[in-house]
Amino acid sequence: MKYDIKDISLAKKGLLRIEWASKGMPVLNSIKQRFEVEKPLKDIRISACLHVTTETAVLMETLKAGGAEVSLCASNPLSTQDDVAASLVKNLRIPVFAINGEDNRTYYKHINACLETRPLITMDDGADLVTTLHKENKEMIKAVVAGTEETTTGVIRLRAMADKGVLLYPIIAVNDALTKHLFDNRYGTGQSTIDGILRATNMLIAGSNFVVCGYGWCGKGVSMRAKAMGAKVIVTEVDPLRALEATMDGFQVMPIKEAARIGDIFVTVTGDVSVIDKNHFPLMKDGAILCNSGHFNVEIALDELAKAARSRRAIRQHVDEYTLKNGKRIYVLGEGRLINLTAAEGHPSPVMDMSFANQALSVEYLVKKADGLNNMVYSVPGEIDREIARLKLASMNISIDKLTKSQERYLHSWELGT
Ligand code: ADE
Repeated sequence: MKYDIKDISLAKKGLLRIEWASKGMPVLNSIKQRFEVEKPLKDIRISACLHVTTETAVLMETLKAGGAEVSLCASNPLSTQDDVAASLVKNLRIPVFAINGEDNRTYYKHINACLETRPLITMDDGADLVTTLHKENKEMIKAVVAGTEETTTGVIRLRAMADKGVLLYPIIAVNDALTKHLFDNRYGTGQSTIDGILRATNMLIAGSNFVVCGYGWCGKGVSMRAKAMGAKVIVTEVDPLRALEATMDGFQVMPIKEAARIGDIFVTVTGDVSVIDKNHFPLMKDGAILCNSGHFNVEIALDELAKAARSRRAIRQHVDEYTLKNGKRIYVLGEGRLINLTAAEGHPSPVMDMSFANQALSVEYLVKKADGLNNMVYSVPGEIDREIARLKLASMNISIDKLTKSQERYLHSWELGT
């Protein structure tokens, strides 16, 4: 079996951490138990490009339990947990191609190695695997039946491909499931972003001016959690509806040029490029901290920051100090990559439980139904979404009410009014 990881001797540590994460994933585990009996993915080759974390390992176990042959590469050069990669190779015999800290060339070499297993299904997080397949491996695509995509950024890229008519197989947008983005993007990113900032800096959040760029589900989660820790939260937005929402959620809203002068900590979660750039760095306070929790490291214009700086040094792990020509120091966390996965461990397992339950059930659905689908981006079927919510509630010992017959009738009627 081919693989490329940092150190196989880390497997034991990885196995214990995976066991710990698995405890927080009852929904995925119930799917795994069913898969073990029914084998719905028998002989299905899956190439997955995901953050190599303990939660991803539980998903890999689940797919394997269903009979799939899985290979895995990283969806970000800095998010791989090397002990998890080792455990997947040693204990599950899964070919893993991922090393924390790999350079860009190795990152793509690993994606290509993962594709060499000739997948029938692709599972992506950010669409680097799918785009590599479409750009460089046209021959292999003929065998691909379908794919899934985990994240907002990836879904945007894949929709752009579908719109231009270049997407060559159907993809299910796991991100669009309610049991994914309402929880993973909001509570997952909210908590793990703060966790990453704290682990990297040990700063005090209380009393700080905390600027959140972008008020999508991730931005909402980060703002909510920063506020709860006593920060004075400022939101920047380009969308009037979201800006209004942020205002009525109790946050100050202003353009980034104004926020740049006030902020102590800045978090970008927009999914777009150069949200903080050369126009903003000189305005910032001495000691401003910048980080990103969007998928790619493009939201802070780091090349422009490097040009504006007279010196740069690593001051502690995950913290680079840039001294500008005006003498002010700006601190960038995790090289501008996803701070929750570079300095912390990503989203906690109870939210990944739902995201990855969507992945597992979407793959099962595609194995049965992909023949009838077009080369488009599809939503997760509503029935899967609701079933995951039901299973999650049950795992939390929460029961809910049921509509009475007369309530159901009322909801389908029009006659009764004032
Ligand atoms: N994305 C965010 N958090 C994650 C995690 N814990 N595992 C895999 N992907 C993630």
